[in-house]
Order: sequence, then structure tokens, then C-alpha cells
Amino acid sequence: MTPILPGATIGILGNGQLGRMTTQAAIRMGYNVACYGPDIAPTPCGQAGAREVQGGYDDLAALAAFAQSVDVMTFEFENVSTAATEVASEHIPVHPDGAVLHTTQDRIREKAALVDAGIPVAGYTVVHQASDLAGAAYPGILKTAQSGYDGKGQRLVHNAAEAADTFTAFGGVPCVLEALVPFLWEGSVVGARNAAGDVALYPLVQNIHTNHILDTTLVPAPLASTELQASAAALAERILDSLDVIGVMCIEMFITDDGIIVNELAPRPHNSGHWTIEGAVTSQFEQHVRAVCGLPLGSTELRAPAAAMANLLGDCWPDPDFVGALADPRVNLHLYGKQTARIGRKMGHLTAVGATVRDASDAVTAARSRLKSTH
Ligand SMILES: Nc1ncnc2c1ncn2[C@@H]1O[C@H](COP(=O)(O)OP(=O)(O)O)[C@@H](O)[C@H]1O
Ligand SMILES: [Mg+2]
Repeated sequence: MTPILPGATIGILGNGQLGRMTTQAAIRMGYNVACYGPDIAPTPCGQAGAREVQGGYDDLAALAAFAQSVDVMTFEFENVSTAATEVASEHIPVHPDGAVLHTTQDRIREKAALVDAGIPVAGYTVVHQASDLAGAAYPGILKTAQSGYDGKGQRLVHNAAEAADTFTAFGGVPCVLEALVPFLWEGSVVGARNAAGDVALYPLVQNIHTNHILDTTLVPAPLASTELQASAAALAERILDSLDVIGVMCIEMFITDDGIIVNELAPRPHNSGHWTIEGAVTSQFEQHVRAVCGLPLGSTELRAPAAAMANLLGDCWPDPDFVGALADPRVNLHLYGKQTARIGRKMGHLTAVGATVRDASDAVTAARSRLKSTH
């Protein structure tokens, strides 16, 4: 691929915090950015310097016009139709391509692709109608095939009758029923692959969720042996290669007594990679820009032995104490510029690097407690 050089315009579909941090990296590197999405300006992405274009993800004429105004297109919102990526790719390169999006936006297709690539996944049953639930093993987690995030569109079910009620409550849309994985902890690997097929991976990190939403990321995963780090990296590289990904991808994993089970894929920068802004030589956002523009990938080396990230949800509003949070000079604040805070909404995050994971995670969790202390 001919490299797309600084001075060119990167188009981003979506305009939230992932687009914002990608915009910040791209502008620093001398690119222009335009973002496209349904939200009213100023969006998190637009505030960071991207030209904002308001339009629906299914407005093919508007998407074609947007594509003609940029030099390459990528995503921070990946639930767009194949028709949308096809229309854009008539005009400009689109990375990752429509096939990667099509696969990863549907749990049924994603699991089939992982199985095809020889990647271990939780046992699952594809559910198109209630009768598919009869012979399955319980307890399990019924998940809608599409549009789930932060635990939305999934429920723990204990028997076929409960599963059938849940399937109906989900509107009878295609689902997967997954076996409950008795994981020791959850982790992820964020990695990037460029058109030359080069792959660069950040280490396996540990992710702690609260109410199905990422709460903290610990870097590197404190419980991971060298062998586990190596097998996580090998799985991630195999996934990036087999899907022919160009860009950053996050691979969420369950770590069990018997090894790694891959949970799900996100074909874009991910919340569990936010620590890379301060914690790695190249952030996941710069890496995404490099990959989609056909540049050499940057180093994923850590700048310090350890790092940690704590999310700031809308729960910390309306009166967050930023002065209190920043009393520890090691802590870095990131806010996404969202106009309204809602419970569970991702408003920002805190990062720290340190000599040990414990140091870094104590720093961010204590800072977050101070930030919330006025409640
Ligand atoms: N099969 C499973 N076994 C045990 N826990 C699960 C399973 N699937 C999901 N979970 C829990 O629910 C969380 C969210 O599920 P996930 O499939 O990652 O959906 P989301 O798109 O909401 O992130 C996971 O991070 C994990 O904590
Ligand atoms: Mg997940």
C-alpha cells in the first residue's frame, strides 16, 4: 500500500472518545481529521480538532460524500453496514476493511471465524429460535449476536425456560448461548497490524469489570507468567493474521486454569489500551494511525515497568473533585468532553505509571476515590 502521509486527511466513522484520542494522535503527527456520526457538534472528536460531519450511518449518499472528502477511512464505531463500508471503499482505502467489521460485529460470525482459526472459545450454541435453547447446557450467558456492549444485550440464564423468556425479551433476534467460563481473571491484548503484515502487540493486561463495565486495567497483568504472556501474544497474532486486520484490534480473553479462552474482538483502539498514552513508547491511537496509513508500526515497549488505568464514569458526576484527584503528581487526567454525565457513561479516565503494578494501581484508584469524595 502507498503510505498516506502527514498532511492527508483521515476520516473516522464515529465521534466519541476513541475517535477523540485517535484525532489527538493524528493531529500531533500532522494529519487532518474529519469525523462522521449522528451526534450534534461539538462531539468529543470534534472538540479535539476533527472537522465534524453530522450524518446517519445508513445515509449512503452522505457517507459517499464524506469518503470523497478524506484520504483514508477508519472507525471508532464499528457497527456499520457492509453497504456503508462498500460505498466508502469505492472512493478511498478503508481500514480495517468491511470484511473485518462484518465478522466482528456479529458474535455468531466472530466465533465461527475464531474456531476456523483454531482459537479456543467458550462452548456455545447458536440461537435463531427458541427451540435451539432446549438441548443446551446450563447455566449459560445468552447474548444477542449484534449491538451488545458494556454487558448490554446479555443475561445469565439458569435453564431453558429462563433462556426462552430472555430470548423473547431480547426480541427474538439471533443470539449465542455461551457456557459460563470459570475464569480466574480477565485480560486483553491490544495489537496492531499494517498492510505489510507487520504485527506489534502490547502485553497481556488484566481488566477488572464492575457491573460489566471496565473499571481498571493493570499493566502488565500481574498474575501472568512469561509463558502465559507468550501464549496470549501468539493467539493475538494468529487472530490479526487470520482476519487480515489492518489497524488496531483488541482481543478480550478469559484466563482459566486450563489456559486462555478468547471472549470477543474489537477492531479498533480499546478502553483497555488507554494506558498506552503514557505507559508505552507508542500509544494505541498513534499505532492505529500508523497502521491505517501504511506507516511502519511503533514500539510497544513500556516506558515504565508498570501502568494502571481507572475509568471515570458518569457516576462520579455532577461534582468531581479534579483538584483532589490530581493531588498525586503521578496521576494523569483524561476527559472526553461529553456534555452530559449519565450513570455508567464513560466520561474519562486516570492513568499512572510506576515501578510496580501495585504502585500504579494504588495511585489511580486513590485518585479516583478523592475525585468522588464530595458525594
Ligand atoms: N461465557 C462467559 N463466562 C463468564 N463470564 C462471561 C462470559 N461472557 C461474558 N462474561 C462476563 O461479561 C462481561 C461482558 O461480556 P462480553 O461478551 O465481553 O460483552 P460486552 O460486549 O458487553 O463487553 C465479560 O467481560 C465477562 O466479565
Ligand atoms: Mg467485552
